[in-house]
Amino acid sequence: MLAALPAGAQDATKAFLKRHWAFPIQSQGKAPKSYTALETELSPDSCGACHPRQYDGWRNSLHSHAMGPGVMGQLLSIKPNAVGELRACTRCHAPLAEQEASLRKALRGVASDLHEQGLVCAACHVRRHVHYGPPPIGLQPGKSHGGFVSSPAFEDGRFCATCHQFGKDGYVLNGKPLENTYAEWQASPYAGTQCQNCHMPERQHLWRGIHDVEMSRKGVTVTVNTPVAQSGRLHARLAMTNSGTGHYFPTYVTPRVSMQIYQVSEDNKAIFGTLQEKIIARQVSADLDEELSDTRLAPGAQAVLEYLAPLNPDAGAVVMRVHVEPDHFYTGLYRSLLDAQPDGKGMSLIRAALDHSLQSAYDLYIKSYPLTQLDRRFRNP
Ligand code: HEC
Ligand code: HEC
Ligand code: HEC
Ligand code: HEC
Ligand code: HEC
Repeated sequence: MLAALPAGAQDATKAFLKRHWAFPIQSQGKAPKSYTALETELSPDSCGACHPRQYDGWRNSLHSHAMGPGVMGQLLSIKPNAVGELRACTRCHAPLAEQEASLRKALRGVASDLHEQGLVCAACHVRRHVHYGPPPIGLQPGKSHGGFVSSPAFEDGRFCATCHQFGKDGYVLNGKPLENTYAEWQASPYAGTQCQNCHMPERQHLWRGIHDVEMSRKGVTVTVNTPVAQSGRLHARLAMTNSGTGHYFPTYVTPRVSMQIYQVSEDNKAIFGTLQEKIIARQVSADLDEELSDTRLAPGAQAVLEYLAPLNPDAGAVVMRVHVEPDHFYTGLYRSLLDAQPDGKGMSLIRAALDHSLQSAYDLYIKSYPLTQLDRRFRNP
């Protein structure tokens, strides 16, 4: 058992995070004279020169793509001087003051790229050129960038809540904040396991989530009963339990998960009219005005799809499938933006984002049960 943290330590973390994430983040200002040019740079590849392990993880994570075409395409129609409007997005997607300056330059047509690098290392680690990190494990505060200041706040889920949980003044739909991951986690049996334990194992900068097949497979358990064909009818059952996701599966309104059972022909083509499905998602209208349904799985909860249907005469097999569209909401959003203003500013980026959103879909689970085998089983148990 871990001893409870003394109240003073809790307060220190809270106070640290309040300072650390006060927005807008102040510009870094002048670097101390002792810093080399490399130590002064805020771009992730300069940190990567000395921290290759963190850089490799980050580069492959969505945090490094946080200013992709879907975000930039929408920002391009904002005036460079409308700082408040820009900040409504950059607060989470590219929060440094230097990134704001870079974005405003780019909006005026001047080449500049720090903002394009998304949620950079320095956004989480550097304030006024001082480097902050978790309590060191086996590292000695070196001489580089004047050493570093450590805080247990980096090992605390509240560090992530800044961007992954809407606060009291945030947007609420049907009584639930639009982003509610931290609160879902707090109410779950995982409340003692920090976000970092699952998303940054051994401090790796991975942040894998619903866009990653293996991560999603770790989060749920799928169980199937072998389908039974009897007297021209087919019975099958597909169940999915949230067995390892520390919050709702999925947590956001943007993904759509579909549990499906359908029959396919001998040449493996889906037979029209045989599909039955169950949607696991928090579905909202495109304008975010209305929650249409919420069938997400809380930690421990299970969804079951019972299939009972006539056996199609052309059927060669039954398919059991769990299909994930991580960017389902965005696909719809991009389509409506393109419909409304096909020649608007930023629409070539939105077109690229639309393609990208369609490509992220995958099968979390798929298995085909040939019917000949089933029939044999049935005839000769
Ligand atoms: C400064 C804001 C910010 C902070 C702090 C932050 N994130 Fe994120 N996170 C984002 C944004 C923005 C995205 C979406 C990036 C994109 O796709 O555009 C994201 C994406 C993710 C994803 C990928 C989601 C997916 O759809 O697959 C995971 C997982 C994640 N964050 C976990 C964490 C964890 C754990 C922490 C704390 C250690 C954390 N984040 C801290 C802003 C933040
Ligand atoms: C409180 C933090 C926060 C704010 C503020 C925020 N986002 Fe995000 N955004 C996220 C997180 C977290 C994700 C990843 C989860 C998801 O896909 O819903 C994300 C994902 C996205 C994505 C899809 C992924 C991608 O990179 O294409 C787009 C587009 C996007 N945000 C646009 C915006 C725009 C435009 C604004 C400003 C109007 C904005 N966001 C404000 C946190 C935020
Ligand atoms: C979303 C915020 C975020 C971003 C972006 C980020 N880090 Fe981290 N970093 C963390 C957190 C949180 C921890 C502590 C994790 C823990 O203790 O479980 C950490 C830990 C570290 C550590 C200590 C590692 C150890 O093994 O003790 C280093 C060094 C580091 N980060 C460097 C970087 C570099 C370099 C980048 C960019 C390539 C980067 N970080 C990007 C949040 C971030
Ligand atoms: C010239 C090499 C160099 C550069 C450039 C550099 N660092 Fe470091 N950093 C170090 C060394 C050396 C340490 C001391 C710990 C160690 O031995 O790794 C350290 C420590 C840290 C720590 C503390 C780790 C902990 O355990 O808490 C963080 C966080 C960190 N650096 C982040 C960054 C970020 C972010 C950047 C870029 C903005 C950066 N560093 C650029 C060499 C460098
Ligand atoms: C017990 C492990 C565990 C803990 C603790 C945990 N997560 Fe997750 N998280 C997962 C798994 C597994 C997935 C992939 C399945 C999914 O998308 O729901 C995931 C997905 C995500 C996603 C992707 C978006 C989505 O719609 O699902 C984000 C963002 C995220 N987690 C953030 C967090 C934050 C922030 C915390 C802490 C408040 C946290 N997670 C705590 C396991 C965990």
